[in-house]
Amino acid sequence: MNNRLINSLLSAILLVSCSSNPDLYKDPSQPVAKRVESLLEQMTLEEKLGQMNILVMGKSDNLNNTEDREGRKLTPEIGAFIYYDSNVDSANELQRRAVEESRLGIPVLLGHDVIHGYRTLFPMPLAQACSWNRDLTYQAARIAAKESYMSGLRWTFSPMLDVARDGRWGRVAESYGEDPYTNAEFAKIAVEGYQGENLSDKYSIAACLKHFAGYSYSQSGRDYNPTDVSDLSLWETVLPPFKAAIESGAATVMSAFNDLNGEPIASNREMLTEVLRNKLGFDGFVVTDWRSLEQLITQRVAADSLDASVMALKAGNDMDMYDYIYSRFLPTALERGVIDMKPIDEAVRRILKVKFELGLFESPYTEKVSDEDRYLESESVETAKSFAEESMVLLKNKNNTLPLKSDIKRVLLAGPMVDDRINMMGTWQSHGDQSDVVTIYDGLKAEFGDRIDFTYIEGASFLKNSDKLMSNFKCSAQTTDMIILALGEQAKWSGENGAKASLDLPESQVQLIVEGAKYNKPIVVLTSSGRPLALSNIEPYVDAIVQMWQPGLYGGEAVAGILSSRVNPSGRLAITFPYTTGQLPIFYNHRANARSAWGASQGSYRDAPTEPLYPFGHGLSYTEYEYSSLKVSKNEFIKGEKVTVSVDVSNVGEMDGKETLLWYVDDCVASISQPIKKLKHFEKRLIPAGESETFSFEIDPQRDLSFVDRDGVSHLESGDFYIIVKDQRIKITLLD
Ligand code: GLC
Repeated sequence: MNNRLINSLLSAILLVSCSSNPDLYKDPSQPVAKRVESLLEQMTLEEKLGQMNILVMGKSDNLNNTEDREGRKLTPEIGAFIYYDSNVDSANELQRRAVEESRLGIPVLLGHDVIHGYRTLFPMPLAQACSWNRDLTYQAARIAAKESYMSGLRWTFSPMLDVARDGRWGRVAESYGEDPYTNAEFAKIAVEGYQGENLSDKYSIAACLKHFAGYSYSQSGRDYNPTDVSDLSLWETVLPPFKAAIESGAATVMSAFNDLNGEPIASNREMLTEVLRNKLGFDGFVVTDWRSLEQLITQRVAADSLDASVMALKAGNDMDMYDYIYSRFLPTALERGVIDMKPIDEAVRRILKVKFELGLFESPYTEKVSDEDRYLESESVETAKSFAEESMVLLKNKNNTLPLKSDIKRVLLAGPMVDDRINMMGTWQSHGDQSDVVTIYDGLKAEFGDRIDFTYIEGASFLKNSDKLMSNFKCSAQTTDMIILALGEQAKWSGENGAKASLDLPESQVQLIVEGAKYNKPIVVLTSSGRPLALSNIEPYVDAIVQMWQPGLYGGEAVAGILSSRVNPSGRLAITFPYTTGQLPIFYNHRANARSAWGASQGSYRDAPTEPLYPFGHGLSYTEYEYSSLKVSKNEFIKGEKVTVSVDVSNVGEMDGKETLLWYVDDCVASISQPIKKLKHFEKRLIPAGESETFSFEIDPQRDLSFVDRDGVSHLESGDFYIIVKDQRIKITLLD
């Protein structure tokens, strides 16, 4: 008997047992499935369509807001809101209307883009990945969930799992970088952090996996552009993070804006139902991205809004973000017989299921707590500080310029980021407050006290330097011991709709570097950005580069700690820094160039190197680690057996340090050519100076040595594999 028949029989049994007791859905002791059916069978079409909307609220604290931005009546039947306020009274008033003024009292679901914290802001997700710290990622998600929950939210539109390899695309900032395994690992942790042990627990909020799928392949890096993604790339790169996060129990998914190979995701039943639900096993609800249904007309697959509403519903979008298109057009589609109630009931079932699982019916209201008691708790602040410290990446440190030596008494400070607040917080700032930010200037002053005399030449903007600034700069550069330039991008230059055609630093910032280099003083560049930067044009002029990313509230303190050696930098790149923008897309896990064995002249550029400036995994430390005794539990093994590879790592320097081991697999020969290496395990651990640690990677061949084909079918083939860690590799052989 097939699943469909079983489900129909189950629904019929449920219906019979529910119709006798219309209040069954209010009974928390009943199974969620029964509660859903009990409620669904009582709902009118208008009530059902109401649940299939998410509108916007909270642009003001006006409790009497009864219309959304488009002047639409905020009826108690609206299922959800993007809720911008942190005002619990407004949230509770919205909830009161839904619970007390609607016929069936279905609570409303309030969500928001809590991407890297609510009020306590952590580094951007791309930076988080560069920390390689699972614990910090989990703690940050838990804190974000708690602060959100205490502000009336039960849903965040996070984590974003779009594997991003083209730094021109601004949303690379919100991803966990270029590698599918890395995105999968951090996605699982984020989901577990947001959703906690149980969705109905206090401080648990629903996660939302986005953007399903292929959005990061936006042509030429321009947001909202079409995407061409091969089936093999879908299964090999795009879908694994979603698969992993679905297995972690993610409650919701957001469908993406992009046209995927000519079929926009918002109307793509193959992706939203066949792949997402039937192959990946997702059983929550799908919310569309902002106005993506109306966009189906612009994307030239829908003739009008009625067309778009039907296509989107049939594809598998359960909730419509902002367009209100289901409420406006599905009644007509029903009258015309273009659709029946089945897909509508299915969509409402999924939405109600999540609301029951969240415990919204039992506890719809939010306890009012003061700001002091819900934000910036001391542990949250400590977590945010550690995260900022561990996500920063020391890219260059010529002649151990850093940390600052005792003979450095005068430092010249310049650049647009020195006393910046707003851009340090990055894009999607949720309720981050500039006044909470520790600027670089504040951080340095607090860290070094009177030990160093900082001369800060103010006035550098992101895009130009005044003559006055330059003359002051030149004058002070004569007498300083070191120049520190805090440079980079504005937060709005990355994030949504934040594409850039060049990853270079702006000309004015390059000018400061080139000018500073004339005085033969050590130059340290601190860069803040939401994307990888192309730094080859400034690298020769500088002695040290620290990539700060957009570190959240405490970047100033973190980078000061790195400059003083209070913090031993431990970040490693989760995305490649190209030599030049023209190399994009460039990523470590690429397939072989047909002539890569013929020497560097083959398959190269006439005007640039083929290698990046800083590769995936790059990151310097103040100490040295030596790897030795790489060994394997067995060189030959058969299917079903596991193999453990281990290596000893010694900290041979003078400073304690946290080392991240990145374990790769190289599947030398396969029926489908495999990337030259694939990250399959990582671990970060503190190694005190002078001590050693043994790290190991237990290889599960089916998980770690298999590959997928264009249909998503996994293959494990016998043959040789190399396990790679740092610059060492060891062969293992899977026998027939
Ligand atoms: C935006 C973004 C999406 C976000 C949503 C709600 O357009 O694409 O990531 O969650 O709208 O703000």
